Amino acid sequence: MITFGSDAIQGGVRDMWRNAISLAVALAFALTTTSAFAQAKKKERCKDGESEKVANYTPVKGVNLDWMIKESLTGKDGDPKAGLKWMTHRRLGNCIACHAVTKIQALAKPGDSKSLKAYGFPGEIAPTLDGVADRYTIGELRMLVVDPKKIFPDTIMPAFHKNTGFNRVIGDCKGLAILSPERVEDVVAYLKTLKQ
Ligand code: HEC
Repeated sequence: MITFGSDAIQGGVRDMWRNAISLAVALAFALTTTSAFAQAKKKERCKDGESEKVANYTPVKGVNLDWMIKESLTGKDGDPKAGLKWMTHRRLGNCIACHAVTKIQALAKPGDSKSLKAYGFPGEIAPTLDGVADRYTIGELRMLVVDPKKIFPDTIMPAFHKNTGFNRVIGDCKGLAILSPERVEDVVAYLKTLKQ
Protein backbone atom coordinates (compact mmCIF):
# COMPACT_ATOMS: atom_id res chain seq x y z
CA MET A 1 0.00 0.00 0.00
CA ILE A 2 2.72 2.39 1.02
CA THR A 3 4.76 1.45 -2.05
CA PHE A 4 1.73 1.98 -4.22
CA GLY A 5 1.22 5.36 -2.57
CA SER A 6 4.81 6.45 -3.17
CA ASP A 7 4.55 5.26 -6.79
CA ALA A 8 1.50 7.44 -7.13
CA ILE A 9 3.39 10.35 -5.60
CA GLN A 10 6.37 9.74 -7.92
CA GLY A 11 3.97 9.50 -10.85
CA GLY A 12 2.41 12.74 -9.71
CA VAL A 13 5.80 14.45 -9.49
CA ARG A 14 6.71 13.14 -12.97
CA ASP A 15 3.42 14.49 -14.33
CA MET A 16 4.06 17.78 -12.68
CA TRP A 17 7.46 18.05 -14.40
CA ARG A 18 6.01 16.96 -17.70
CA ASN A 19 3.31 19.60 -17.38
CA ALA A 20 5.81 22.22 -16.36
CA ILE A 21 8.03 21.41 -19.33
CA SER A 22 5.15 21.52 -21.82
CA LEU A 23 3.99 24.76 -20.27
CA ALA A 24 7.49 26.23 -20.63
CA VAL A 25 7.70 25.07 -24.24
CA ALA A 26 4.28 26.50 -24.99
CA LEU A 27 5.22 29.76 -23.30
CA ALA A 28 8.50 30.03 -25.21
CA PHE A 29 6.64 29.34 -28.45
CA ALA A 30 4.00 31.92 -27.60
CA LEU A 31 6.66 34.49 -26.74
CA THR A 32 8.64 33.91 -29.93
CA THR A 33 5.58 34.06 -32.13
CA THR A 34 4.23 37.12 -30.33
CA SER A 35 7.52 38.95 -30.67
CA ALA A 36 7.86 37.87 -34.31
CA PHE A 37 4.32 39.15 -34.80
CA ALA A 38 5.11 42.36 -32.96
CA GLN A 39 8.16 42.83 -35.14
CA ALA A 40 6.17 42.19 -38.30
CA LYS A 41 3.59 44.67 -37.02
CA LYS A 42 6.30 47.23 -36.25
CA LYS A 43 7.80 46.85 -39.70
CA GLU A 44 4.41 47.59 -41.20
CA ARG A 45 4.54 51.14 -39.92
CA CYS A 46 7.00 52.04 -42.64
CA LYS A 47 5.93 49.57 -45.28
CA ASP A 48 4.16 52.12 -47.48
CA GLY A 49 7.36 53.17 -49.08
CA GLU A 50 9.23 55.48 -46.76
CA SER A 51 12.51 55.63 -48.54
CA GLU A 52 15.99 54.44 -47.67
CA LYS A 53 17.17 56.26 -50.73
CA VAL A 54 17.84 59.96 -50.33
CA ALA A 55 19.05 61.69 -53.48
CA ASN A 56 22.06 63.97 -53.52
CA TYR A 57 21.18 67.46 -54.56
CA THR A 58 22.75 70.90 -54.49
CA PRO A 59 20.40 73.83 -53.82
CA VAL A 60 21.15 76.88 -55.96
CA LYS A 61 19.81 80.45 -55.80
CA GLY A 62 16.13 80.62 -56.74
CA VAL A 63 14.23 83.27 -58.68
CA ASN A 64 11.23 83.94 -56.41
CA LEU A 65 12.60 82.15 -53.35
CA ASP A 66 16.09 81.99 -51.88
CA TRP A 67 16.73 78.41 -52.97
CA MET A 68 15.73 75.88 -55.54
CA ILE A 69 16.77 72.40 -56.66
CA LYS A 70 17.09 72.79 -60.35
CA GLU A 71 17.58 69.20 -61.46
CA SER A 72 15.05 66.39 -61.06
CA LEU A 73 16.10 64.10 -58.19
CA THR A 74 15.71 61.12 -60.51
CA GLY A 75 16.82 62.72 -63.78
CA LYS A 76 13.27 62.22 -65.04
CA ASP A 77 9.87 63.90 -64.85
CA GLY A 78 7.44 62.53 -62.28
CA ASP A 79 3.87 61.32 -62.84
CA PRO A 80 1.22 63.85 -61.72
CA LYS A 81 -1.40 61.12 -61.23
CA ALA A 82 0.88 59.36 -58.74
CA GLY A 83 1.64 62.78 -57.24
CA LEU A 84 -2.04 63.24 -56.40
CA LYS A 85 -1.93 59.86 -54.65
CA TRP A 86 0.99 60.84 -52.39
CA MET A 87 -0.48 64.28 -51.71
CA THR A 88 -3.70 62.74 -50.38
CA HIS A 89 -2.14 59.68 -48.72
CA ARG A 90 -2.80 59.75 -44.96
CA ARG A 91 0.72 58.67 -43.99
CA LEU A 92 2.97 59.70 -46.83
CA GLY A 93 2.54 63.19 -48.31
CA ASN A 94 -0.79 64.11 -46.75
CA CYS A 95 -0.35 67.66 -48.01
CA ILE A 96 -4.10 68.26 -47.73
CA ALA A 97 -3.88 67.83 -43.97
CA CYS A 98 -2.66 71.43 -44.08
CA HIS A 99 -3.26 72.77 -47.61
CA ALA A 100 -6.55 73.24 -49.44
CA VAL A 101 -6.38 72.64 -53.20
CA THR A 102 -9.55 73.45 -55.17
CA LYS A 103 -8.69 70.94 -57.90
CA ILE A 104 -8.35 68.14 -55.33
CA GLN A 105 -11.51 69.11 -53.44
CA ALA A 106 -13.40 68.98 -56.74
CA LEU A 107 -12.71 65.20 -56.80
CA ALA A 108 -14.94 64.76 -53.74
CA LYS A 109 -18.39 63.77 -54.98
CA PRO A 110 -21.36 64.49 -52.71
CA GLY A 111 -22.84 61.19 -51.55
CA ASP A 112 -19.67 59.21 -52.34
CA SER A 113 -18.13 58.67 -48.93
CA LYS A 114 -14.87 57.22 -50.29
CA SER A 115 -14.08 60.25 -52.44
CA LEU A 116 -15.29 62.58 -49.73
CA LYS A 117 -12.97 60.95 -47.21
CA ALA A 118 -10.02 61.04 -49.62
CA TYR A 119 -10.38 64.58 -50.94
CA GLY A 120 -13.13 66.39 -49.14
CA PHE A 121 -11.70 67.68 -45.89
CA PRO A 122 -8.60 69.78 -46.43
CA GLY A 123 -6.86 71.57 -43.60
CA GLU A 124 -6.80 75.31 -43.52
CA ILE A 125 -3.61 75.97 -41.61
CA ALA A 126 -1.36 76.54 -44.61
CA PRO A 127 -1.78 78.67 -47.74
CA THR A 128 -3.80 77.13 -50.56
CA LEU A 129 -1.69 75.51 -53.25
CA ASP A 130 -3.98 76.87 -55.99
CA GLY A 131 -1.86 78.62 -58.59
CA VAL A 132 1.39 77.63 -56.89
CA ALA A 133 2.99 76.86 -60.26
CA ASP A 134 2.44 80.51 -61.27
CA ARG A 135 4.19 81.74 -58.15
CA TYR A 136 7.24 79.49 -58.16
CA THR A 137 9.55 77.73 -60.58
CA ILE A 138 9.64 73.94 -60.71
CA GLY A 139 13.02 74.01 -58.97
CA GLU A 140 11.57 76.10 -56.14
CA LEU A 141 8.61 73.74 -55.77
CA ARG A 142 11.06 70.84 -55.59
CA MET A 143 13.03 72.61 -52.84
CA LEU A 144 9.79 73.24 -50.90
CA VAL A 145 8.80 69.57 -51.00
CA VAL A 146 12.30 68.24 -50.26
CA ASP A 147 13.14 70.54 -47.35
CA PRO A 148 10.93 73.61 -46.82
CA LYS A 149 12.96 74.68 -43.80
CA LYS A 150 15.72 75.71 -46.16
CA ILE A 151 13.31 78.45 -47.33
CA PHE A 152 11.04 79.00 -44.32
CA PRO A 153 13.27 78.09 -41.34
CA ASP A 154 10.43 78.10 -38.80
CA THR A 155 7.77 76.42 -40.90
CA ILE A 156 5.66 73.60 -39.52
CA MET A 157 5.69 71.94 -42.95
CA PRO A 158 7.60 68.63 -42.82
CA ALA A 159 10.73 67.99 -44.87
CA PHE A 160 9.58 65.17 -47.14
CA HIS A 161 12.94 64.11 -48.46
CA LYS A 162 15.29 64.07 -45.53
CA ASN A 163 16.35 61.28 -43.19
CA THR A 164 18.42 62.97 -40.51
CA GLY A 165 17.92 65.60 -37.85
CA PHE A 166 14.66 64.23 -36.42
CA ASN A 167 13.88 63.45 -32.77
CA ARG A 168 12.15 60.33 -31.44
CA VAL A 169 11.57 58.66 -34.79
CA ILE A 170 9.38 55.54 -34.43
CA GLY A 171 11.35 52.24 -34.51
CA ASP A 172 11.99 51.09 -38.02
CA CYS A 173 11.17 54.46 -39.57
CA LYS A 174 14.64 55.62 -38.47
CA GLY A 175 16.88 56.62 -41.34
CA LEU A 176 14.00 56.77 -43.81
CA ALA A 177 12.70 59.75 -45.76
CA ILE A 178 8.92 60.18 -46.08
CA LEU A 179 8.94 60.40 -49.86
CA SER A 180 11.38 58.63 -52.18
CA PRO A 181 13.10 60.64 -54.94
CA GLU A 182 10.55 59.25 -57.44
CA ARG A 183 7.61 60.27 -55.26
CA VAL A 184 9.02 63.76 -54.71
CA GLU A 185 9.13 64.11 -58.50
CA ASP A 186 5.53 62.82 -58.75
CA VAL A 187 4.39 65.47 -56.26
CA VAL A 188 6.36 68.18 -58.09
CA ALA A 189 4.71 67.03 -61.35
CA TYR A 190 1.27 67.46 -59.76
CA LEU A 191 2.17 70.89 -58.31
CA LYS A 192 3.24 71.89 -61.83
CA THR A 193 -0.42 71.47 -62.90
CA LEU A 194 -1.66 73.96 -60.29
CA LYS A 195 -1.91 77.03 -62.49
CA GLN A 196 -4.69 79.57 -62.42
C1 HEC B 1 1.85 70.25 -41.24
C2 HEC B 1 1.30 71.10 -42.28
C3 HEC B 1 1.82 70.98 -43.69
C4 HEC B 1 1.90 69.86 -44.48
C5 HEC B 1 1.55 68.42 -44.11
C6 HEC B 1 2.37 70.30 -45.76
N1 HEC B 1 2.59 71.64 -45.74
FE1 HEC B 1 3.18 72.79 -47.33
N2 HEC B 1 3.20 74.43 -46.14
C7 HEC B 1 2.78 74.48 -44.82
C8 HEC B 1 2.86 75.85 -44.36
C9 HEC B 1 2.46 76.34 -42.96
C10 HEC B 1 3.35 76.62 -45.43
C11 HEC B 1 3.64 78.11 -45.47
C12 HEC B 1 5.09 78.36 -45.21
C13 HEC B 1 5.26 78.89 -43.82
O1 HEC B 1 5.41 78.07 -42.89
O2 HEC B 1 5.24 80.10 -43.66
C14 HEC B 1 3.55 75.70 -46.53
C15 HEC B 1 3.99 76.08 -47.78
C16 HEC B 1 3.99 75.28 -48.90
C17 HEC B 1 4.25 75.74 -50.25
C18 HEC B 1 4.50 77.16 -50.67
C19 HEC B 1 3.11 77.81 -50.84
C20 HEC B 1 3.13 79.25 -51.16
O3 HEC B 1 2.22 79.68 -51.87
O4 HEC B 1 4.03 79.96 -50.71
C21 HEC B 1 4.16 74.63 -51.07
C22 HEC B 1 4.34 74.58 -52.57
C23 HEC B 1 3.82 73.52 -50.21
N3 HEC B 1 3.73 73.93 -48.91
C24 HEC B 1 3.64 72.23 -50.69
C25 HEC B 1 3.33 71.14 -49.87
C26 HEC B 1 3.21 69.80 -50.36
C27 HEC B 1 3.36 69.40 -51.80
C28 HEC B 1 2.94 69.02 -49.28
C29 HEC B 1 2.79 67.53 -49.24
C30 HEC B 1 3.80 66.72 -49.87
C31 HEC B 1 2.86 69.90 -48.11
N4 HEC B 1 3.10 71.17 -48.51
C32 HEC B 1 2.56 69.46 -46.82
C33 HEC B 1 2.32 73.42 -44.08
C34 HEC B 1 2.25 72.10 -44.50
